[in-house]
Amino acid sequence: MASLAVVGLGYVGLIHAVGFTLIGHRVVGYDVNRSVVESLRRGRPHIYEPGLEEALRRALEGGRLKFTDFLEDAVAESEAAFIAVGTPSAPDGSADLSQVEAAARAVGRAMRGKKWYLVVVKSTVPPGTTESLVAGAVAEESGAELGVGFSVASNPEFLREGTALEDFFKPDRVVIGAGDEKAASFLLDVYRPIEAPKIVMKPREAELVKYVSNVFLALKISFANEVGLLAKKLGVDTYRVFEAVGLDRRIGPHYFSAGLGFGGSCFPKDLRAYIKLGDRQGVDLHIAKASYVVNEYMLQYAVELLEKHLGDLRGRKIGILGLAFKPNTDDVRESRGVELAKILVARGAVVYVHDPVAVEKAKAVLGNAVVYVEDPQFLVDNTEAVVIATAWPQYEELNYTNTIVIDGRRVKKAREAKIYEGIAWA
Ligand code: UGA
Repeated sequence: MASLAVVGLGYVGLIHAVGFTLIGHRVVGYDVNRSVVESLRRGRPHIYEPGLEEALRRALEGGRLKFTDFLEDAVAESEAAFIAVGTPSAPDGSADLSQVEAAARAVGRAMRGKKWYLVVVKSTVPPGTTESLVAGAVAEESGAELGVGFSVASNPEFLREGTALEDFFKPDRVVIGAGDEKAASFLLDVYRPIEAPKIVMKPREAELVKYVSNVFLALKISFANEVGLLAKKLGVDTYRVFEAVGLDRRIGPHYFSAGLGFGGSCFPKDLRAYIKLGDRQGVDLHIAKASYVVNEYMLQYAVELLEKHLGDLRGRKIGILGLAFKPNTDDVRESRGVELAKILVARGAVVYVHDPVAVEKAKAVLGNAVVYVEDPQFLVDNTEAVVIATAWPQYEELNYTNTIVIDGRRVKKAREAKIYEGIAWA
């Protein structure tokens, strides 16, 4: 059993704090936000993730999980800290590392006087960050020497929102980018209860694995979408094509669901950071750029389809079903539904929106620019056309027969619409 600190209790940090506890470790979760800490102490997660509330309660009952808003306490009681803070896009698209640096500095200050400590970067960061920025900041603040008084590691995560706990306990692989032997053996011990291949490599290799994994998945989606645009013109059902294509074991069936494109807190941001990384190294990353362009085009194509049926969109009533970036989450970051709403509002349309769980978060972005509707059937019945942006199961229950549907998520029932347009399939 190890004693671990988790720094930052967002989606990634909280899942890891709970997960590490449930596989037998002692964990102190730290966040700057006191209200988050207080609600977690009461067993109430501040984010929506299936199974998380129950898992958090179980972890707290065992007495091995604590939460604090004093980083000094978390570091004092642990042998290693996992930094799981945000790396949002800077204005130029590169990864903004200011939260990572601040966390590394704070951990460095808090670990003064310790014989040895391990600083693990969980956040998605450009290759080299752990060994240079993080190790440098920790050394400066703690006065300790890298490889003697402390070690560093990169340990990227591959959790999907909506299935994050399952992904924690049953990952396809665990990637350990260890700065030295001590870091490698410590992390192998931490993950021993998890049955999965564990790959030990250098920190900068592990950091690149994370970007390459996300960029490749995003690429598969954009590839399917591009094929979909062509297939639609040819009168072909893209899904039938990829069903067969995906059976080739060299290709695989996953992430070929064509539609309105990808959103979320990871794919768009990581693609931008990866492209910027290439720019800085003088490498033009054509494929990654194309994948981003196709993703943006899918939104524009939805607008083109609306114009095809309604003409000028000014003053027209348009509904959007789904604001979460995918089902089973209330996360609206870079969601296609929210981005589409912004475009339609800018075109002068009157936009009605529905989402079963994400309305509160969407309000923080869209404010009063759109009309929030509680009953999705009301939205369908009181608009001139509807775009389906999230594959919530309840959208399979609606009656679409009197409206125009631009289906961005392959909802079977929507095919009964007066006019039906699959965005990337015939
Ligand atoms: C993604 C990765 O899948 C995780 O492995 C990774 O750990 C995470 O980013 C991260 O970097 O933290 P996530 O953003 O939660 O996870 O969501 P996904 O389920 O991968 O979906 C992303 C977007 O792609 C969604 O908008 C979804 O609707 C879209 N998508 C997905 C498609 O349009 N088609 C598909 O076939 C699959």
